[in-house]
Amino acid sequence: MTVCSAPGKVYLFGEHAVVYGEPAVPCAIERRARVTAEPRSDDHVRVEAEDLSLDGFTVEYDGAVGDHPDVDVERSLLDAAMGYIDAAVSQAREAAGAPDAGFDIAVESDIPLGAGLGSSAAVVVAGIDAATRALGEPLSPRELADRAYRAEYDVQDGQASRADTFCSAMGGAVRVEGDDCERIETPNLPFVVGFDGGAGDTGALVAGVRELKSEYDFAADTVTSIGDIVREGERILGAADPDAEPEAELLAELGDLMNFNHGLLSALGVSARSLDSMVWAARDAGAHGAKLTGAGGGGCIVALDPTPETKTALSFTQGCADAFRAELATEGVRVEAP
Ligand code: PMV
Repeated sequence: MTVCSAPGKVYLFGEHAVVYGEPAVPCAIERRARVTAEPRSDDHVRVEAEDLSLDGFTVEYDGAVGDHPDVDVERSLLDAAMGYIDAAVSQAREAAGAPDAGFDIAVESDIPLGAGLGSSAAVVVAGIDAATRALGEPLSPRELADRAYRAEYDVQDGQASRADTFCSAMGGAVRVEGDDCERIETPNLPFVVGFDGGAGDTGALVAGVRELKSEYDFAADTVTSIGDIVREGERILGAADPDAEPEAELLAELGDLMNFNHGLLSALGVSARSLDSMVWAARDAGAHGAKLTGAGGGGCIVALDPTPETKTALSFTQGCADAFRAELATEGVRVEAP
């Protein structure tokens, strides 16, 4: 039995624009998905998923891939979760040269599904790692990131960047621009996350931005402007001492860029009333900046605040189901057992 875990992430800057080749800076956070893989004597795959938080509920089911558990949650989310596990198994079989390998797989996650925190990437990265290790063919984190990207690409019909999967595999803060992915050094940023209890449909949101972008030059310019924000953010991060506590001036500069980034994402139609309301609650509470994270449409916002104020304000904000501090996860995918 092999257990691997991989972290979720928040986008400091750059989601959506990254799909069109602009750079993005996601940061791994200490919320993990854990996947257990046990090789079987036949070629079947059996998946048991516990604690997949959907819409604030906890789903518990146990069934073979293809069976549908009797739970009161959106089928699309559940199917998506199963699709990612299926794709991870295919990648692991291919990587290990074992096309008929069967597994008993168990998934546990404390990352809400489809909420912009990279739950699917974490499950896929941890799943491929656990399955290949269980077959005695471990991959490097970079190979895992690449395989996980291919799995997401297949499930999301080609509408995926390398950002989520690379960040989850490598940990820390990363910069992604097209196929070019690297880890970057950043100070330990004081992230606070607000979660509205819901989820967005990544495929539909990405398609919506693509449509706007092809219809209006100003929407295409908006995507390029998000890239400019990311480049400015990278310049500021590059000048900061990664080992020092971040100073208020640095947080203020990054926060301004996050606010701007949120405004442009909102202009591209991917925000939501609940996300805007949490963003404003965070700003009113004194956060240096706040923006939605991930695909949008519902799910999470991320704010920068070293004080407890933002978390407290969010927990009293109507429409906020959960608020928590998210530590930067310096470690990416890792073996938990044996
Ligand atoms: O909501 P998430 O965590 O799946 O992030 C989606 C980020 C996008 O830029 C919208 C799509 C992508 O694959 O980069």
